[in-house]
Amino acid sequence: MAVDQPGWWQCGLVYQIYPRSFQDTNDDGVGDLPGITQRLGYLHWLGVDAIWISPIFPSPMADFGYDVADYCDIDPLFGTLEDFDRLTSAAHARDIKVIVDYVPNHTSDQHPWFIDARSTRQSEHRDWYLWSDANPPNNWISVFGGSAWQWDTATNQAYYHAYLREQPDLNWRNPAVQQAMLDVLRFWFDRGVDGVRIDALRQLVKDRDLRDNPPNPAWQPGQDPYASLTPLYTTDQPEVLEHVAQFREVSDGYPERVLIGELWLPIERLVAYYGVDGRGLHLPFNFHLILAQWQARQIARLVEQYEVALPAGGWPNWVLGNHDRPRIASRVGVAQARVAAMLLLTLRGTPTLYQGDELGLENVPIPDALIQDPVERNVPGLGLGRDPERTPMQWDATNNGGFCSTEAQPWLPLAADHALRNVATQREDPRSMLTLYRRLIALRRAMPALSVGSYRTLHADEHVFAFTRESGGQRVHVALNLSDQPRMTRLPGGELLLSTHLDRERGSTAETIELRADEGVIVG
Ligand code: NOJ
Repeated sequence: MAVDQPGWWQCGLVYQIYPRSFQDTNDDGVGDLPGITQRLGYLHWLGVDAIWISPIFPSPMADFGYDVADYCDIDPLFGTLEDFDRLTSAAHARDIKVIVDYVPNHTSDQHPWFIDARSTRQSEHRDWYLWSDANPPNNWISVFGGSAWQWDTATNQAYYHAYLREQPDLNWRNPAVQQAMLDVLRFWFDRGVDGVRIDALRQLVKDRDLRDNPPNPAWQPGQDPYASLTPLYTTDQPEVLEHVAQFREVSDGYPERVLIGELWLPIERLVAYYGVDGRGLHLPFNFHLILAQWQARQIARLVEQYEVALPAGGWPNWVLGNHDRPRIASRVGVAQARVAAMLLLTLRGTPTLYQGDELGLENVPIPDALIQDPVERNVPGLGLGRDPERTPMQWDATNNGGFCSTEAQPWLPLAADHALRNVATQREDPRSMLTLYRRLIALRRAMPALSVGSYRTLHADEHVFAFTRESGGQRVHVALNLSDQPRMTRLPGGELLLSTHLDRERGSTAETIELRADEGVIVG
């Protein structure tokens, strides 16, 4: 299905900024808001339509900002509300939309609501959180390791935390919580943000009867302990959609705002979050490219399954990486990461690009002494720690990659190859990953077939995945070789518009073309 009047969030590219690691301007080794403002020129040059900024709110940083102590201010580490306003107007002046993180599932244990809640059982905010007399009342486990219940010795009850014990979950059955959190949304929309990315959405409501989660028969020791149970009673409860409808009602009160939801769910459940009658999310984040096996037939099957599952009017979206998952270049290899880039930018649906993936950054090994992520400490040795994909942006060949001054100490180490793999070097290289991303983004913008056209699978075998995008008579074919051997494939023919190798183009192609190892092509 082609789209006549697409919204900005449909044809645009979203770029995720992990603010701690984007650009430091005050030499404390942590990125900040003035740093993002300073780099808007780069983002504009790259062709980004919107930035989503991970949390920048006051926080003790137990989970690096996902433990919010005040939803309506900026942590001094990142700057001030005035810095935020300056960033927003500078971004808007370049036609870049601004999306902030919205963390409704839990607060920090240092949030005034929780400080009051845990002061006495009679406190005004006691019922804003989830308490139990039993310790623990059931087998629920935290995403970040151990029981999800923390005993509070002062008041002799346990509170629930889906993540760290420093992140107590809010009680969304309490209307006062709903009102307070909807006010937070209004605060940021009033301030001019164009959208929110809703954190941990599937966790928002928990089973009223606190029933035990069933064991997951597929889980094996050595895998993520959180996956040992099926989170039947702690995630994706029917009431979550009622709260999504509340979010939507607020956002519909403002022009052209977008709601993006973080939802680790199977496709058939994910698409429920588009809601009914426009009462759902604009973009329930689709992480299935992160989860899928990197094999042509599997990817084709996934795309088709998703296309078929989408409800009428539901706009697709695709994500290759984020601050919680290993880098795409490490998952599939640097050569295939170019193919992945072409896939992300040519599939039907809004692409989200994680900072640094446009340079082909890989996971950076973090020595024990430098580990920051509490997940690595709580659940050691399983590769679940997220520091490797959160290392600073590599802007140039200087000591600290231009992320901070050469005298400062970055909060996480840069990759060893940063003197070679950086924005300055890749900008000048006509065959770099960065050039590839920029060209793909530009082509997508120039061709409605790619940005808003229909999707049809052409071919999928063990190695090659090919599809056609079409809009108003414009037709584009994409063929991707997901293997490291040359492969012959048949395409309807046309002009070669782009190869991931960036060394051949603008020639007409025959019906049968040879894809070189790790090559993807766009033919139009
Ligand atoms: C998902 C976020 O992306 C992740 O970074 C965070 O730790 C958890 N939610 C808890 O907020």
